Amino acid sequence: MTKRSSWAGVGVAIAVTIAPPLSPAVAQSSQPAPPYKAPVISDTGRLPGPRQPIFFRHDIHAGQDRIPCLYCHSTVTISSEPGIPALQTCFGCHQMIGGSTPSHQAEIKKVREAFANRQPPHWIRVHALPGFVRFPHQRHIKVLGTEGCTNCHGDVRTMPQVYQVATLRMGWCINCHVQRNVSRDCTVCHY
Ligand code: HEC
Ligand code: HEC
Ligand code: HEC
Ligand code: HEC
Ligand code: HEC
Repeated sequence: MTKRSSWAGVGVAIAVTIAPPLSPAVAQSSQPAPPYKAPVISDTGRLPGPRQPIFFRHDIHAGQDRIPCLYCHSTVTISSEPGIPALQTCFGCHQMIGGSTPSHQAEIKKVREAFANRQPPHWIRVHALPGFVRFPHQRHIKVLGTEGCTNCHGDVRTMPQVYQVATLRMGWCINCHVQRNVSRDCTVCHY
């Protein structure tokens, strides 16, 4: 696990704000019940994966509220790096959404303060390949699809805290390349 050094540089700002359909209140009145309800978590210390500076829950955002992965990881279809969203993306919603429980409010307060102080959180990196390996996300998404993240990351929509599911070892890459008849030349993955 390493700390991202140039977080701001990786960030991608999206100016749009998602309007009502994602707010839980509106979802209740005008849409069918969401298929996934994120659990209340009292003991965060037992969750797998590194503890992040802000307890940002994928199961709430991507699972319960069904925000598409690409809303935040917007470069995954066009670049090697999926991108980690800039705080501006968060603030687009959290300027208004303050949280429905005391623990949500406490974490969202951190988002607002970080935005006001222009101090983006240093998200701890969960997945990291050695520098001598080439991994182009966009090539994989083109074939596996924008919903194909589960192939390698597991079902992030149900994870309160992201953790590594696959080994990310060479054998794991090769296995899938064999199954899908993709090149296994050393130079495909190694510089
Ligand atoms: C509202 C914004 C948002 C949405 C929507 C979102 N993510 Fe994320 N994602 C983040 C942030 C912020 C981080 C960094 C903090 C963390 O790891 O939890 C992150 C981290 C991750 C990581 C770990 C990256 C690493 O360090 O290795 C993975 C994998 C990931 N997201 C996959 C997904 C998938 C798959 C979806 C859709 C099912 C998704 N995300 C939806 C904001 C989002
Ligand atoms: C499209 C709207 C939207 C965006 C974008 C968004 N959120 Fe949220 N967020 C919500 C909603 C809705 C809730 C649930 C509020 C509640 O009921 O408490 C929430 C809850 C939270 C919470 C409290 C629950 C939890 O996850 O622990 C935190 C912290 C949070 N968001 C952080 C972030 C961060 C950091 C980002 C940017 C990476 C972000 N949010 C982007 C809509 C959004
Ligand atoms: C074929 C496997 C595979 C698929 C499919 C895949 N990923 Fe990844 N992902 C990886 C690997 C491997 C890494 C580590 C890359 C590295 O260290 O260079 C990673 C890293 C990430 C990171 C952290 C990158 C960073 O800059 O911090 C995010 C975020 C992420 N993936 C999101 C997604 C999302 C969202 C999808 C689906 C749209 C997706 N991934 C699909 C294998 C995959
Ligand atoms: C779930 C299956 C799967 C896994 C796991 C996987 N790949 Fe791939 N890989 C693919 C597919 C599918 C393509 C797209 C081939 C195409 O464009 O037709 C691809 C393409 C590639 C390419 C581009 C190939 C070219 O011809 O230029 C590279 C590089 C690559 N993968 C590296 C990796 C590495 C490194 C890992 C492990 C960290 C990995 N892959 C894991 C399925 C996978
Ligand atoms: C589909 C992608 C892929 C292909 C093809 C591939 N590798 Fe790798 N290789 C990786 C990944 C990912 C790692 C880093 C993870 C690990 O060490 O298992 C790695 C690591 C290595 C290492 C370092 C092992 C260590 O323990 O430090 C060597 C040496 C290596 N590969 C040689 C080769 C040779 C030789 C070939 C061609 C016969 C090859 N690789 C083909 C993905 C690939």
